[in-house]
Amino acid sequence: MTNATPNDELSVQTSPSPLFKQFALQAAATLVVLSLAWPYFGLRNEPLPWPETALGIGSIAWMLARLTHQPSWWQVIHASFAPLAWAVSLLDIDPAWFFVAFTVLLLFFRGAAHGQIPLYLTNVTTTEALISLLKSSPGARFVDLGAGIGSTIKPICRALPLIKATGIENAPASWLIGWLRTRGFPHINWRMANLWQVSLADFDVVYAFLSPVPMPELWRKIQQEMAPGSLFISNSFAVPGVEADEVLELDDGRQTRLYCYRLPGTANSTIKAESPAE
Ligand SMILES: C[S@@+](CC[C@H](N)C(=O)[O-])C[C@H]1O[C@@H](n2cnc3c(N)ncnc32)[C@H](O)[C@@H]1O
Repeated sequence: MTNATPNDELSVQTSPSPLFKQFALQAAATLVVLSLAWPYFGLRNEPLPWPETALGIGSIAWMLARLTHQPSWWQVIHASFAPLAWAVSLLDIDPAWFFVAFTVLLLFFRGAAHGQIPLYLTNVTTTEALISLLKSSPGARFVDLGAGIGSTIKPICRALPLIKATGIENAPASWLIGWLRTRGFPHINWRMANLWQVSLADFDVVYAFLSPVPMPELWRKIQQEMAPGSLFISNSFAVPGVEADEVLELDDGRQTRLYCYRLPGTANSTIKAESPAE
C-alpha cells in the first residue's frame, strides 16, 4: 500500500478544480474562434455565420481537449457543446425553461458539478454481492459514501436487519428520495452531508461507488480515519497505485468489480472479503 506524501497534499490544494479546467478549455476555444471570425466577417461587412462558427468552436475545443489528454467523455462534451447550443437556440424555447432544467439537474447532480461524481446506481447483482460480504458480520457499522437514492442501503438493511447503516448524500433531490424510501428503517441513519466532512473512524465497512476522480483523495482520508482491520469497498474504481486485498468480479452485464481494501491491523469485528459464491 502506498502512503500520501506532503507533495501529494500540495498538489491537491494548489491545482485548479477539474470543472474550472473544462470551463477554461471551452472558453479558450470560443475566444480563439470569435477573435478570428468577428474581425474577418466584420471587415467584410457580413453577418457572422453561426452554424459554421459553432462547428469551428466545437472543433477547436475538441482539439484542445485531445491535446490536454482530457477523458474521452469530456472530449465529446467539448466537441458537441457549441454546435448543440446553436441548434437549441433555433428552437426558440423560453429561457426560463433552461433555468428550470438547470435547477432540477443540479438538485440531482450536485456531486457531478462539484467533484465529478454523478448519480448512477449500484445494480442488483452488486447489492447481493455486498449482502453476501456483510453476512459474516451482521452487526457491522456500514456506510455508503454518496448513497444516491438509498437503492443500495435499503436492500442491505432489509436482508441484514442487525446492520447499523449510514447513508451520506449531498444532492438535495436524491437525498429527499432516499429519505422517503428509508423512513421505515430505524437502523438506517440517512444523512444530508458532504462525504468529505464525515469521519470514517466509526465504521467497520465503508462502501463507495463514485468515479475515478476522487479516489486518490478518498484513499488519503480512509488511511487517516478508518480503524485498523476495517474494510473499504469501492465499486468499479480502484485506488490508483494501491493493490486491492481482494477483487470480486461479478457476473453482471457490466462485469462489475468490487475492490476490497483491508486497513492494516486487527479489527474488533471481522468482515471477510470473500467471493459472493463462496
Ligand atoms: C455513483 S452515485 C452512487 C449512488 C449509490 N451509492 C449507489 O451505489 O447506488 C454517487 C453519489 O454520490 C453523491 N455525491 C457526490 N459527491 C458527494 C459528496 N461530496 N458528498 C456526498 N455525496 C456525494 C452523488 O450525488 C451521487 O448520488
